[in-house]
Amino acid sequence: MSTSIDRVFIFDTTLRDGEQSPGASMNTTEKLEISRQLLRLGVDVIEAGFPISSPGDFESVRRIAAEVGDAAVVCALSRAIPADIERAAEALKGAKRPRIHTGIGVSESHLKDKLRISRDEAVERGVAAVKLARSFVEDVEFYAEDAGRAEPAFLYRMIEAVIGAGATVVNIPDTTGYSYPEVFGALIAGLMDNVKGIEDVTVSVHCHNDLGMATANSLAGVRAGARQIECTINGLGERAGNTAMEEVVMALKMRPDVFGVDTHINTKEFVRASRLVSGITGMLVQPNKAIVGANAFAHSSGIHQDGVLKERSTYEIIDPADVGAGGSSIVLTARSGRAALRHRLAELGYVMEDEEFEGIHTAFLELADKKKEVYDEDLEALVGEAERMVGEVYHLEQVHVNCGDPGIPTATVELIDRDGVSYIDSSHGNGPVDAVYRAINRIVQKPNDLTEFSVQSVTRGIDAVGEVTIRVKSEDGRTFTGRGAHHDIIVSSAKAYVNALNRLLVAAEAPSVEDEV
Ligand code: KIV
Ligand code: ZN
Repeated sequence: MSTSIDRVFIFDTTLRDGEQSPGASMNTTEKLEISRQLLRLGVDVIEAGFPISSPGDFESVRRIAAEVGDAAVVCALSRAIPADIERAAEALKGAKRPRIHTGIGVSESHLKDKLRISRDEAVERGVAAVKLARSFVEDVEFYAEDAGRAEPAFLYRMIEAVIGAGATVVNIPDTTGYSYPEVFGALIAGLMDNVKGIEDVTVSVHCHNDLGMATANSLAGVRAGARQIECTINGLGERAGNTAMEEVVMALKMRPDVFGVDTHINTKEFVRASRLVSGITGMLVQPNKAIVGANAFAHSSGIHQDGVLKERSTYEIIDPADVGAGGSSIVLTARSGRAALRHRLAELGYVMEDEEFEGIHTAFLELADKKKEVYDEDLEALVGEAERMVGEVYHLEQVHVNCGDPGIPTATVELIDRDGVSYIDSSHGNGPVDAVYRAINRIVQKPNDLTEFSVQSVTRGIDAVGEVTIRVKSEDGRTFTGRGAHHDIIVSSAKAYVNALNRLLVAAEAPSVEDEV
């Protein structure tokens, strides 16, 4: 791997430092699943574990190394101890692009109180570790633990010595999250100016978030010349965590004017990665977390909603689709204005005259005063059955099914459009409802996914009316509900589907929100 003026390498340590988060331990199968997602993201380096720490960690590194191939560098951690380095090398044997990550403390606190060695001894051990690691692999990263609290002159000495011993990447960790952007940036700049051979290696930053500055410190490091960032999904990691990958990558992407560098990360995979890691580790993501939090693209205030509905960028700097977040969401609360309510109703397929809308708006405000959030189902209940029919594009005129066992379920439907034109078509299916839906699809030709189907009896007895509720998802990801009631649940199902399709079609035809505000 060589340095570049315009590319920053992304080193993911979710599986190593991230796993050090209390309660976040993962088994080998889970780590493999995450490593596959890291490859979809396009990370440059996967730090797969600390092989000497346990047989499970060794096995995870071994399996990930074998599976990743040349899609990414696979890295294993070790202390500056021969047994650690040998174990890391063993675990990486099957890797196409192996890297050993080794290092030692460089702050006075680590030298005196943890390692109880002199500076000279630390340099000796660092150099020996790098040399030993180089005897196994070509790519060796050296970490100067607690560099954020080290005396800069000693750090320069250590880094120059390990570069001389063959390190290809030098990692400057702010292990305790003590630094802040100006100081950390100056530390990296100092290395660039004072260390012989620094231009031949990649300088890496590894920041912890104890003061909430991991992202800012990493970015300051990049501005000063670092070209690798060590980070984790959701900022998982020891104590307050590491730099969050989604934050640094999006900062670099959104502000080329400030940083002038980019990564090769497929940012559209961020939300998926975040959910996967959160699901596996059980570490929940706070709703207001940057980039991947549930509220990252949710707008609650009426003023913001009005702005976003007119032009998304008035209150959003990132297009949610760029991080795989679907779309912006308008949260309907008592603070929402008319524009937001009208927009949501139109999305659900309810297009109404002003007078009718005012009645719904009044009812909405009453409900919103009682509830924190007003959901689609609440709006549907407010609008009621009569309004649900407004804007009907197709009317279900008749439906016939043939089914049995043995037999191929077949259905014929007739739909009439709002100009009175009749359409008849037939289809077979896996069952009678499937056959009916396929026949309707042949007429309406509006691709969608059926995501929910439920039947409920709304009256008692053998002749009960069955109400079918379904949800369909349109090609652009919007969800529409349909309901239909009849004594024959096949007919209820057909009515529910036509009802949902009508909403989808009305929403697709609805005038733009700007016209309505
Ligand atoms: O925070 C740290 O210093 C580390 C090193 C092992 C790289 O995680
Ligand atoms: Zn760390």
